[in-house]
This record gives sequence, structure tokens and C-alpha cells, in this order.
Amino acid sequence: MNILAIETSCDETAVAVIKINDSYKTDITAKNFSPKTLSSVISSQIDIHAKYGGVVPEVASRAHLDNIDYVVEEALTHANLGDSLFKSFDQIDAIGVTHGPGLLGSLMVGVSYAKALAFSLGIPYIGVNHLEGHLVASFLDRENPPELPALVLLVSGGHTILLNMTELGQYHLIAQTVDDAAGEAFDKIARYLDLGFPGGPAIDKAAMHGDDKKIRFPRAEIKNSLDLSFSGLKTAVIRYAKDNLEVSTEDISAGFQKAVVDMLLSRITAAIKVYNPKTLIIGGGVAANSLLRTAVASVAEEFSLEPMIPMKKDCTDNAAMIGAVAGFRIIKDGPGKMTDSVYSTLPLQYVNS
Ligand code: KG4
Ligand code: ZN
Repeated sequence: MNILAIETSCDETAVAVIKINDSYKTDITAKNFSPKTLSSVISSQIDIHAKYGGVVPEVASRAHLDNIDYVVEEALTHANLGDSLFKSFDQIDAIGVTHGPGLLGSLMVGVSYAKALAFSLGIPYIGVNHLEGHLVASFLDRENPPELPALVLLVSGGHTILLNMTELGQYHLIAQTVDDAAGEAFDKIARYLDLGFPGGPAIDKAAMHGDDKKIRFPRAEIKNSLDLSFSGLKTAVIRYAKDNLEVSTEDISAGFQKAVVDMLLSRITAAIKVYNPKTLIIGGGVAANSLLRTAVASVAEEFSLEPMIPMKKDCTDNAAMIGAVAGFRIIKDGPGKMTDSVYSTLPLQYVNS
């Protein structure tokens, strides 16, 4: 089964073609799920938004509208399904699209396009939760699917969630942020330090030239909970930077990044002891962070877990991960409805809530 997947929830217009293995249809368990990326194309709007210091929703929607046709064509061409666009469309069995969470105007472009395409080709449509995309990204293009249960840390610009995945679609919430998301904290600190947009990669780079022992920023703990909080850290860093103009942005970035990674690591370590996972997965844009990647690899080694650290390009938003979710959801739950809408907030469905 070939899925054409579309992702337009924020500032990347992304389209992918994903092949779902037939064996998953006969036994719908995660151990049989091996989606393959036939193509994955991303048209980034970073340069357009950089001059405003952040994503401008109206500008993002218009850019998606300008780009989407071209990106779909590129993805189909790279997937090599036929020698013309029409023959390639013939090989597509379903259309999957992110329907939330995200910027409404941006989501509407992808969802309207996906519905129209599915209708005209006479094939099923399915709306996908973007967060589930980040969770399932680690199943793509592997010889053997990750062993479950897996402890998954999803750290992106809008979310910070730690959960236990016992099966595809079976998520047990362990902890989440009570205020800012980890990526949001990176972006806000970078903006304050004038390091540019997006902030995560800029802080990551600056921190490489800084001393992470020079300033010890506070690590927030929440009583009787593994939940996280980054807003106090953000205020502490901004106040410190304001009062200590002689200290380099490199040292401040290194101290801030170390505090974020320490907080995430303390939750991961505590959760491993409780949930006894076989695999440790990280996903979302902040999973591209160099220090977090090294720290997660060493904690996985310490507890003899299989680490699933996607390549940096697969951590940030892409449509391949949306295609993987569309594939298992359509087989497990059936197609979505044409009356489907777009959702600015769309929580994951947890088993324990
Ligand atoms: O997953 P993503 O592309 O979009 C959302 O779904 O939010 O994540 C974007 C976030 C941004 O906050 C960005 O600053 C952060 O991921 N990010 C990083 C790094 N690369 C991207 N944060 C820390 N270090 C990085 N290397
Ligand atoms: Zn994302």
C-alpha cells in the first residue's frame, strides 16, 4: 500500500510517499510494522520567517498554498512510481494529512488539498495527529521495528511529553511540561540573546563554544511528579543575561542547554526505573540537539536499552512520519471522514486518561 502524505502544520510544506508492508495487514502489531520512505520532500519557509524572528501564521499559509502543488509533484517524481504524474497517482492507495495540532490556516491548506486529491482519485483520506507522527517516525526505514515497550520523549517547539508506548496507538502518559515546551524555551532564549531563528540550532551551535559549568541555572522539580517546567529557567536565564552583560552568549547558551538536558535526563532515568522499557526513543525538533543526543545515547547504554535517535533531519517536521501514522491507522481504524476538520490543539489519546 502506497500512501501520499502531506504535512503543513507550521512552516514546512512537506510531502512524502510511504510504502506500508503487506504483512502488517495480516497481523497488526508493531513488530510487523516496517514502513519505507519512497520519497520525502520538504520545502522550508525558515528564510521567509527569519526576518520576523518567528513564524508569521498568515505568511505561512500563503507560502503553503504557493508551494504545495510543486512539492507534491516532486515527491511523486522522486518516489519513481511511474513514468508520468498520472501513472504515479494511479499507484497511490490513500492520502494522509496532518489535521492538527498546528496553525489553523496552514493546516487548512494541507487538509483541503488532501481531501480534494483523495476525492478526485477515488481513494481514502485520513487525518493524522502531528504528535503521533513524531512518535512513530522511528519505525521508518528500519530492518527490524523497535522493540516495545518503548519510553518515548517527544520534544518539539510546541510539546514536551514523556510516554510509554506499549503498542502502536497505545500510549501511556508519564509526564509533560506544565508551561513552556522545551523548543519554545530554546526559541525564546535565542531571541533574547539575538542568536536568530529558529533558536534551537542557534543555541546548540553557540553552546559548543561555551563552558556549561560556568553558570548553573535552576533545574525545576515538581513535587510527586515527573512533569517538567521551563518557564522559571527561561526567566532565570533572561535575568542573568540582563545583569551580566560581560558574560558571553556562548557560556549562557551552554549553561541553559545543560539545564534543559539535565531536566529531561532526570525524568528519563526515573521513568526507565518504573516502566522497564526495551527501547528508548526521542523525537521532535529538540531531539536534533547535540547534547541531548549524546546524553540519551549514554543513558540507553547505561540501562542496556536500544536507543532510537533519528537522524537530525528526521527529528524536525516532515511528511514521512505522517505517512507512517496514516498507514497503520488506516489499516487498524479504517479511513477518515470527508467531514474531518482542522484542530489547533489536538491531544494524543492516552490509555491512562
Ligand atoms: O518538531 P519541530 O520541527 O516542530 C514542532 O512540531 O514544533 O520542532 C521545532 C523546534 C523549535 O523550537 C526548534 O528551535 C527546535 O525544535 N530545535 C532544536 C534544535 N533543532 C531544532 N532545539 C535544540 N537544539 C537543536 N539542535
Ligand atoms: Zn513537529
